[in-house]
Amino acid sequence: MMRMKIYYFSGTGNSYVVAKDIANKLKADLIPIAEVINIDKIYINADSIGIIFPSYLAPLAGIPLIVEQFIRKIINIKSIHIFAVCTCGGYECVNALPSLKKLEQVIRSCGGKLSADYSTRLPMNNLDYDHIPIPINRNHETIINRSKIKVDNICYRIKKKKGTKYKVVKILFNLVMTPLYKLMQQPVTNDLKKKAKEPLDTQLKYYELIPLTDKSILVNEKCNGCGICKKVCPVNNIIIVNSKPEFQHRCQMCFACDEWCPSSAIQHWSRSESVKYHHPDVTISDIL
Ligand SMILES: Cc1cc2nc3c(=O)[nH]c(=O)nc-3n(C[C@H](O)[C@H](O)[C@H](O)COP(=O)(O)O)c2cc1C
Ligand code: SF4
Ligand code: SF4
Repeated sequence: MMRMKIYYFSGTGNSYVVAKDIANKLKADLIPIAEVINIDKIYINADSIGIIFPSYLAPLAGIPLIVEQFIRKIINIKSIHIFAVCTCGGYECVNALPSLKKLEQVIRSCGGKLSADYSTRLPMNNLDYDHIPIPINRNHETIINRSKIKVDNICYRIKKKKGTKYKVVKILFNLVMTPLYKLMQQPVTNDLKKKAKEPLDTQLKYYELIPLTDKSILVNEKCNGCGICKKVCPVNNIIIVNSKPEFQHRCQMCFACDEWCPSSAIQHWSRSESVKYHHPDVTISDIL
């Protein structure tokens, strides 16, 4: 029998729900990437793996840094079948597509092959839909219900070993969009520089800036030093000093500390004040 493992990364539960659903339906093991990321060389004892992750800064980074680090650590990547599912908050064609392309490039650069890629739209976890220039459905119940149907279909395709749907269309769309994504990269990088509190002429690349952006996370007077933020952070980026969180500049920008703080004491720079969203089927114990 084929052994399958589902690896996932999730800050606010969307990718976790998708990963759990796929693992249940395909009888695969479910493993958080955060749990294995400190292993130097990762040997995967499976024939097939699924990588489930959120789209981050689609035109620039595309995938969370931890997902790229995870792939680079797999020592037997050449011999395993890999598929991926990207969750995103905007339209899949402009958000999940570049993220999956980035993932494919990383896997290829390590000698592996991304055999099939899928995506599903779920609520935007900073609830900011206003920057999308065309009307978009914001009703979370509808979005989540549609995603459930999509994930059923993804499982069917994985089971039947059917590859990526509309592959040629996706390649063409990516080609057309590439110059536009390039145009968007500079403003996004400049914003990261500001959040990382680096000068605009810094030569730091996006993957060096992202970990520093925790310099712009705010902690208010409601903090009681409970340490939940430290526990939910997937990369041990938080220590508690004098009953307050201190950030260690290896941030993934995942929102977990902001979302799961029971006192609403943390405000991530990418979220307006008092904006909270996590997938309704996920509890803090799932994240812990
Ligand atoms: C730092 C960051 C950047 C994001 N960038 C994008 C993006 O470029 N396009 C998009 O559609 N969604 C973007 N999102 C939204 C997430 O991809 C989406 O809500 C995802 O389902 C969250 O997954 P999670 O709940 O598993 O963490 C971003 C979220 C974060 C935290
Ligand atoms: S979870 Fe919130 S209240 Fe608890 S230590 Fe962190 S910021 Fe403070
Ligand atoms: S500090 Fe907060 S946003 Fe950064 S990786 Fe940890 S939990 Fe995520």
